[in-house]
Amino acid sequence: MADTNAAAGGCTCGEAEGGFPPALVAFIDEWKQKPGCLIMILHKTQETFGYISRNSAEQISRMTGIPLARVYGVITFYHFFKTTKPGKHKVSVCLGTACYLKGGGDLIEEARARLGIKPGEVTKDGLFSVDEVRCVGCCGLAPVMVVGQDTYGKLKKDMLPGIFEKYT
Ligand code: FES
Repeated sequence: MADTNAAAGGCTCGEAEGGFPPALVAFIDEWKQKPGCLIMILHKTQETFGYISRNSAEQISRMTGIPLARVYGVITFYHFFKTTKPGKHKVSVCLGTACYLKGGGDLIEEARARLGIKPGEVTKDGLFSVDEVRCVGCCGLAPVMVVGQDTYGKLKKDMLPGIFEKYT
């Protein structure tokens, strides 16, 4: 379900407060009156900070005039949006069809077990978080895992410790 209803009347404050960088403020100013603006603004905010903090949600509400409850309604409806800060190194395990059939499910469980975290958690040192993703476009290398900008293919569970070690 897409949010296609811009804030009625929209906020005209346009203030660059709340720690938002100028580019994000400009983006919100440009989008806040357009249909579907909330989704676009949330995407841009997560792209900027890696997640959407309470502070960011409040700032978006202030800048757009969209009630905070509605902002949170959209954030929680779409699993894509994160409300907790990700690890310094974002681990993404592919659970697209090819990867799933080659053991992607076991891989993500093993990755979380090795790092001692549950879904949505970050390691105590703040280095790693583990998310599932759908097809990252290299199915021939299934199963695939991405750490930051690095892609690892044809993975086996016993390869994980050596890979994580590179980022510590
Ligand atoms: S299904 Fe995993 S890369 Fe395509």
